Amino acid sequence: MIDESTSSKSKPSSEAGFGVYVHWPFCAAKCPYCDFNSHVRHQPVDQPRFVKAFQQELRFMAERSQGEMVQSIFLGGGTPSLMQPETVGAILDEIAKLWPMDKAVEISMEANPTSVEAERFAGYRAAGVNRVSLGVQALNDADLKALGRLHSVADAQRAFDVARTHFDRTSFDLIYARPHQTPEQWRSELREATTMAVDHLSLYQLTIEPETQFELLYKAGKLSVPDPDISAAMFEITQEETDKAGMPAYEVSNHARPGAECRHNLVYWRYGLYAGVGPGAHGRLQGPQSRIATSTEKHPERWLEMVETRGNGLIEKEELSFEQAGDEFLIMGLRLREGINPARYTALSGRVINEKRVQDLKDNAMLESLPDGRLRVTPQGLMVLDAVVADLAA
Ligand SMILES: C[S@@+](CC[C@H](N)C(=O)[O-])C[C@H]1O[C@@H](n2cnc3c(N)ncnc32)[C@H](O)[C@@H]1O
Ligand code: SF4
Repeated sequence: MIDESTSSKSKPSSEAGFGVYVHWPFCAAKCPYCDFNSHVRHQPVDQPRFVKAFQQELRFMAERSQGEMVQSIFLGGGTPSLMQPETVGAILDEIAKLWPMDKAVEISMEANPTSVEAERFAGYRAAGVNRVSLGVQALNDADLKALGRLHSVADAQRAFDVARTHFDRTSFDLIYARPHQTPEQWRSELREATTMAVDHLSLYQLTIEPETQFELLYKAGKLSVPDPDISAAMFEITQEETDKAGMPAYEVSNHARPGAECRHNLVYWRYGLYAGVGPGAHGRLQGPQSRIATSTEKHPERWLEMVETRGNGLIEKEELSFEQAGDEFLIMGLRLREGINPARYTALSGRVINEKRVQDLKDNAMLESLPDGRLRVTPQGLMVLDAVVADLAA
């Protein structure tokens, strides 16, 4: 058990920041690999009606996170770049009314790189967005088609150029270990990507997610992905090439020049607090003792009706045990290159990390201590991160 003083010491706003996540749940088409909460609608979405519901749910969350200062806002999806700039502006204005805002607030938005969306970039900048993350996914037209994407490489490059004229901070995502991709093909694509990138890249290894079209095809033997040893080689190539380009990993799949890290994602990985609004959004708020985990109804129109009738779309609001909070802190923090502060684990969980397990992991070159006492997973340990976390959390 934890006493009052340690519990207040673990108040995250001082250590890891506070962010607001807004989920836009619609996409122009469903990609066959994607299991995010995204829905296709063949009728226009009533954006003004959604705006009112977002504003209402933001007010609900603000009442439960009083005293926090917003360091970052993230508009994620789905495809938030299907929102009209007026929709984005109304959501950001409401956030600014409800919480004090850090002077250097980061306001990120995920965008798909089609020409239609690029036309809205100036409007998003005017609405307050200051960082864009483009879902480029591949720098090869045949693979973009196989991934079900609606853009070509040329479209993505044009959208990236437009984004750069409006935003100082522009990142893009690629997916690797794609069907039939070889390590050498990935190396050459990655070199192109690091040349194109400004200061941040997200590089995700393809995962076959449950209940996706890719899973159906995979189970039917109609889709093959690289073997685990080939994927591991691709992960190593990713580290080599991004290190060479001066954009090393600061998290398992995220790479940046020092200082250009995505602050919003750092709030998650440093186990800060965040309000999550919109269909299927998750949040972590401070409860009287420990963290409160929130999640909202995933189905967009059901969420809308819930917010309209009862003021929020919450389907879950659970105060985490100290043990759960400690586990979450390890799961998130050990993804980071900066590692974790063991004292913060103790403050959150009321437990001390098992020294013997730490030593065993160090002996196996999975974990290392930094000069300031922080613990971090080695590059070798990152390959089996889940096992390392499970060992430390046990
Ligand atoms: C939820 S998507 C939202 C961004 C935007 N809608 C898009 O698709 O460009 C965020 C990122 O997750 C990654 N992603 C989604 N599903 C994935 C999967 N099954 N394996 C690896 N990466 C995935 C993609 O790189 C994508 O850009
Ligand atoms: S990957 Fe992006 S565009 Fe494709 S379905 Fe998922 S959220 Fe939508």
